[in-house]
Amino acid sequence: MTTDAATDAATDAAAVFASAFGDAPDGVWAAPGRINLIGEHTDYNEGFVLPAALPHATRVAARRRSDGLVRLFSAQGDGAVAEFAVDGLAPGSVSGWAAYPAGVFWALAEAGHPVGGADLAFDSDVPSGAGLSSSAALECATALALDELYGLGLDAPGRALLAQRAENAYVGVPCGALDQMASSCCVAGHAYFLDTRTLAGRQVPLDLPAVGLSLLVIDTRVKHDLGDGAYAGLRAGCERAAGLLGVRALRDLGVAELAAAQERLPAELRPLVRHVVTEDQRVLDAIALLDAGDPRALGPVLTAGHASLRDDYRVSCPETDLAVAAANAAGALGARMMGGGFGGSVLALVDTDRLAEVERAVREAFAAAGYADPHAFPAVPSQGAHRVR
Ligand code: GLA
Repeated sequence: MTTDAATDAATDAAAVFASAFGDAPDGVWAAPGRINLIGEHTDYNEGFVLPAALPHATRVAARRRSDGLVRLFSAQGDGAVAEFAVDGLAPGSVSGWAAYPAGVFWALAEAGHPVGGADLAFDSDVPSGAGLSSSAALECATALALDELYGLGLDAPGRALLAQRAENAYVGVPCGALDQMASSCCVAGHAYFLDTRTLAGRQVPLDLPAVGLSLLVIDTRVKHDLGDGAYAGLRAGCERAAGLLGVRALRDLGVAELAAAQERLPAELRPLVRHVVTEDQRVLDAIALLDAGDPRALGPVLTAGHASLRDDYRVSCPETDLAVAAANAAGALGARMMGGGFGGSVLALVDTDRLAEVERAVREAFAAAGYADPHAFPAVPSQGAHRVR
């Protein structure tokens, strides 16, 4: 986002605040959605991920209160203000979109941080239900605003883990740390190579325009919902497999050990394990390619990741499969679905001079199949959570 656009966005969030609560906020903060180059369903297996932040962000204009009350308003909501006391929070006590920021208040208080009341007004351009981490953006924006309003002195990974705790224990979605770590810790112009076991991260320069490449996000508009049990079931399957294999997490299994491990597993767990183990390797392969200055070669890695999610992990859907196939047929270097699955977005690596052609091909394929028109946009690796005003 340009400086002007960022200023406009901060002004918009402050205006939302003024219309909901009167007066001016103490500050405006932003946390982005994310893409993930590779490393899907590896985070809760203590493996590797390679996200980058989107320019799309959730902005929160916020003001501290001294009476322990919280009031939440969203420009994308139904016009109602959610109101509760920090003291009375317990998992499930607030529902709907407001559960995500409420969960952050709860997680901070539960961890012993001296957080009190606040008025928060949200304004977001992160597409929701698109596999681009709108929930994490909402949580991480809240965590950063409260950190600064209450002088909690948290660092970016610390805020991310509290945001993940909010989602796991307050909202009830057993996600890993990918989305929140990406939203909090990413740096503009870089992908973020993260070991989700040790939380050691490395910012990897990703200047694709310099080599004539672009990342195209194709939001299929098929809404995914991680709360519906399928995601939890997959995670449970992975944990069961790790237990049967006698390892702490599937991260502990290398590609060389895969064949022998498969023989010790029931048939239904074998494809899950194969996906996770090969996907961790694909992240390492991608890092090696980026370190070697060969980003074009990421294409086949992405497409192999998609095949693994489709055939082994089985979290793809006809729309994401079609977007990948149509993008590749139109000359993309590679493509794959991102996020939890069952809908959401596809990421394609494309020569910049073929962007329009690839986008047109995907839209035509969707029209021919009778699917809703997808929403495509180039993703520019952007800044993680930060103060805007
Ligand atoms: C969702 C979850 C993440 C991660 C991905 C799959 O985005 O929130 O923690 O598991 O799915 O990689």
